[in-house]
Amino acid sequence: MSQPTYILAIESSCDDTSAAVLKNDLVLSNEVANQKVHEQYGGVVPELASRAHQKNIVPVVDQAMTKANITPKQLHAIAFTSGPGLMGSLLVGTSFAKSMALSLKIPLIDVHHMQAHILAHFIQDGSPSPKFPFICLTVSGGHTQIVKVIDYFDFEVLGETIDDAAGEAFDKTAKILGLPYPGGPVIQKLAETGNPERFQFSKPNIEGYNFSFSGFKTSILYAMQKEVKADPNFVDENINDICASVQKSILDILFKKLEKAAKDTGINRVAIAGGVSANKPLRDRLKANKAWETFIPKFEYTTDNAAMIGITAYYKFLKQDFTDVSVTAKARMKL
Ligand code: KG4
Ligand code: ZN
Repeated sequence: MSQPTYILAIESSCDDTSAAVLKNDLVLSNEVANQKVHEQYGGVVPELASRAHQKNIVPVVDQAMTKANITPKQLHAIAFTSGPGLMGSLLVGTSFAKSMALSLKIPLIDVHHMQAHILAHFIQDGSPSPKFPFICLTVSGGHTQIVKVIDYFDFEVLGETIDDAAGEAFDKTAKILGLPYPGGPVIQKLAETGNPERFQFSKPNIEGYNFSFSGFKTSILYAMQKEVKADPNFVDENINDICASVQKSILDILFKKLEKAAKDTGINRVAIAGGVSANKPLRDRLKANKAWETFIPKFEYTTDNAAMIGITAYYKFLKQDFTDVSVTAKARMKL
C-alpha cells in the first residue's frame, strides 16, 4: 500500500473562512467560521469580510489540524482558493497558504472555487460519486451554471446566468422583504408554512440553457411596492406565502433549464452543487426525478467549505499539478 497523501486546504473566497485536512479523498476535518457581521447589511461587505478572514484564519487552520490529529510535518501539500471571489478575501487565504507551503517546503496547489463546488461530489463520504459525464447545476451566491462534467478537470459550460445568480435572487429578495443575509436559508424556513401558488412573478424567457434573475427580482419589488401602498403591513402578514412563491419560482426557473440540458445531451446523471444546493425543496425535487440518477452533496459540502478545495487539490496532486509562490489571486476566472 502506498503512503496516504495529507493535504491542508484553505477557502476564503467570500464570507466564510474555512480549513480542512484530507487524507487522500477522505475528509479528516472541515472547519468553517461564518461571518455574522454581514447579516445586517443584506449582503457581504468586502472590506469587513477581508478583516474577518484575517482574524479567523489562524484559529480555523489550528482547529482543522487539531481535529484531524495531524502535525504540519505530516502534510504533503497546502491548497487554497485562488478565485473567483472577492479580492481582499482571496488574498488572505492565498498569502497564508503561500507562507505555510514555503516554510514547510511542500507543494502549493491553487484551486478554482467553482470547480471545487462540483468536485465536492468526489469526497468519499459513503455516498456514490457520479460517473463521467454528468450534468451539474452549480448554484451559489455568485454563480449559476449548467456544466457538462466530462472529467475531473474537463468542463463544458452549457449555460449560465446573464445577470444575477440564483443565490443572489434569494439574497436580494430577502433584502426587499426586510429579511437578513444570507436570504436563502431564511426564505426556505419561512416558505415551509406558505402557499407556493399564491403569487406569480414574471419568469424570464431566455434562449438555450442560460438564466436571468434580474427581471424576476424587479417584478417582486414592484409587486411588493404596490401591495404595501394599499396595506403597509402586507409583507409581514403574508411573508410565508411570499417566500413560498419566491422559492418555487426560482426552482421552476432552474429546473426548466436543467431538464432541457439533460434531455438534449441525453445525459441522465444529474448533480447539484453550490450554496443554493443546500435548499431542501431543491434537493427533494431533484431526488424525486426517477428518470435521472441524481447526486446531492452532503449538506456541509454545499455552502463554501475547504473540504471541496481539498478534494480538488487531491486530484491535482495526483497529476503533480502544483503552482509556486508567484501565483496571484483572481477575482474572475473561467471554469
Ligand atoms: O456557495 P456559497 O456558500 O458561496 C458562494 O460561492 O457564493 O453560496 C452562498 C449562497 C447565498 O446566496 C445563500 O443565500 C445561498 O447560497 N443559500 C441558500 C440556502 N443556503 C445557502 N439558498 C437557498 N436555500 C438555502 N437553504
Ligand atoms: Zn461558493
